[in-house]
Amino acid sequence: MKGIFISMEGPDGSGKSTQIELLRKYFIDNGKDCIITREPGGTRISEAVRGIILNREYTEMDYMTELLLYASARAQLVSEVIIPALDEGKCVISDRFVDSSAVYQGIARGLGIETVYEINKYATKGRFPDKTFLLDLPAEVGIARKKNQAELDRLESEKMDFHLRVAEGYREMAARDPERIVRLDATKSVEEIHAQIIEVINSIM
Ligand code: TYD
Repeated sequence: MKGIFISMEGPDGSGKSTQIELLRKYFIDNGKDCIITREPGGTRISEAVRGIILNREYTEMDYMTELLLYASARAQLVSEVIIPALDEGKCVISDRFVDSSAVYQGIARGLGIETVYEINKYATKGRFPDKTFLLDLPAEVGIARKKNQAELDRLESEKMDFHLRVAEGYREMAARDPERIVRLDATKSVEEIHAQIIEVINSIM
């Protein structure tokens, strides 16, 4: 039995966690073992790297440093958790993956998509999601939702035009790879979005 690798992408506050939880439940109800991972994080080492990346005090962080830190957290997650789970035939749902780096560091920070892929070729050992769901949301809506929740981390505290570039960057990525990336309207209801996700999942299972 082959594992299924799914990633969930979208701007901050787009409702990824809710959809991930619903999808996990769907897999379990259908007898498929399933794990959820989050980026940056998901292993002891990756969580430590996450602490550095999102620390609001590190305002001097160079964009290349940021890209490499995300890639290093990912490398550990891929080798320690994702590949072993897929090899055991499990389903893996990742809360963000390489597309986040392509959009946040490649497009919004301006490092370039090609640079991001070149570095991440090594970090991911060439493992790419079978399907990626993009929860597409106007940037202002996502940030307004986040502001109501908790204190913003280093990336969430970026100015509005950064978040606009992120939202636009995601659309650009989806247009580049329409076979893999399924763009969903995140302003729709939780149930409607979940139903669309299940339809796609059933078509690949
Ligand atoms: P997190 O608290 O996990 O945000 P969310 O709940 O929205 O997923 O913080 C992750 C932040 O890091 C988020 O602002 C997106 C950003 N990010 C990147 O810039 N590049 C990356 O490669 C990844 C995985 C995340």
